[in-house]
Amino acid sequence: MACAGSSRLCVRVQEKLLLCQWGHAQASRRRAASTTTAAATSLVQNAASVGFKPFRIPFAYDQPQCLVSAAMTASSSCLHPCNRPEVLTTATRRNFATMRTQQPGSMPEYQVDPYLLLDDDLKDVYGYIRQALRRNTYQEELHEIATYYFDGQGKAIRPMVAILVARAINYHMYKENSGLLTSQREVAMISEMIHTASLVHDDVIDQSDFRRGKPSVNVMWNHKKVTMAGDFILAVASMMIAKLRNDDVTLVLSQVITDLVQGEFMQLGSKETENERFAHYLTKTYRKTASLIANSVKSVTMLAGADEELAEVAYQYGRNLGLAFQLVDDLLDFVSSSAAMGKPTAADLKLGLATAPVLFACEKYPELNPMIMRRFQEPGDVEKAFELVHKSRGLEQTQFLAKQHCQEAARLANLIAESPYQKGLVVAADYVLNRMK
Ligand code: FPP
Ligand code: MG
Repeated sequence: MACAGSSRLCVRVQEKLLLCQWGHAQASRRRAASTTTAAATSLVQNAASVGFKPFRIPFAYDQPQCLVSAAMTASSSCLHPCNRPEVLTTATRRNFATMRTQQPGSMPEYQVDPYLLLDDDLKDVYGYIRQALRRNTYQEELHEIATYYFDGQGKAIRPMVAILVARAINYHMYKENSGLLTSQREVAMISEMIHTASLVHDDVIDQSDFRRGKPSVNVMWNHKKVTMAGDFILAVASMMIAKLRNDDVTLVLSQVITDLVQGEFMQLGSKETENERFAHYLTKTYRKTASLIANSVKSVTMLAGADEELAEVAYQYGRNLGLAFQLVDDLLDFVSSSAAMGKPTAADLKLGLATAPVLFACEKYPELNPMIMRRFQEPGDVEKAFELVHKSRGLEQTQFLAKQHCQEAARLANLIAESPYQKGLVVAADYVLNRMK
């Protein structure tokens, strides 16, 4: 049964999805058109078969503990490590606390949890990054600023996904003879470093005041020093890329940096028509968020010696996961609390940004169009737009689109040989969709 009671909603979301797939196909001439066409067709077929059930965004977003208890009670027999406190390290406990599902009772009976599975790999990532930064400067203040966000309080989604894909692909290719390569672990670190360098710069640009539950870096130090600290993290990451001595991987990871800058730059502009605007938003989202995840997992796959076809599966997995991650982020900006997110919410409108929930809401409330064009600058714009988004179906349409990308990511993960890591990839897609912060 296709989209009972929500056929118009489904059709609109599928259109956006096609736009995204095709937009990406055009942008990436290197990829065979047939692969992308097949992926787009399969996405639309999937969308038609999901039987979308409208869901109400729960008000209790800012009460994670009570939702967590409900979810845990609902799945008491599962192997979820939070039901087995004896096996949790501090790092794992922290990570589980960050990736809670938002819908009580909806948590699947996970057979594998990626954070627990990768506990040994992940526990040292931040320590190694801090060491790499330490090795490259004797200037105490520069080191202090550059390491400020490497305090282990992030979700570590990028290193987690990179290592998970690496181990899943290694098993797919070499079965029990596989292990994580040092170069693959380096890519996981590089990925987190590029991400953090971009956040450091982003906090200066956005004049942020709060991130990861503490004052943001630009509040602690002046903008000149913070900008240079971001450059420094990126420079050390670039040296680590060079040390991999793999030209193809160097190209792929350098592409990420160009994408990040271009994505951030695109965010400063806006488009006139509704379709142009959505295409602009999706390309920006790919460049700002999905490219890093997609190209990091492609890199670890290339380092395993995989052929192009397998590298493409990994890349598409990361791309879909990354797009979903940002869509959920844009959704959470409207429905979550600053306390839950550890950073300001309801922030995008104030920054002049029209993200998916607003773009969808425009269909029902065209009065949002002039507000988007003036970047919500007139008095009352932010409040009015916020209200209209909540009155529209923009939030559930955004969630539906994210769900489509997560389902596509899971489908791609299922093309890889079965192993705990491969199962972890499917679970990771579910985490991204249902995360609360
Ligand atoms: C967070 O966005 C920002 C990014 C994902 C990327 C920012 C990219 C740059 C500043 C370009 C420079 C790049 C490098 C590598 C130095 P957000 O503001 O939507 O999210 P937030 O709410 O977490 O701040
Ligand atoms: Mg920001």
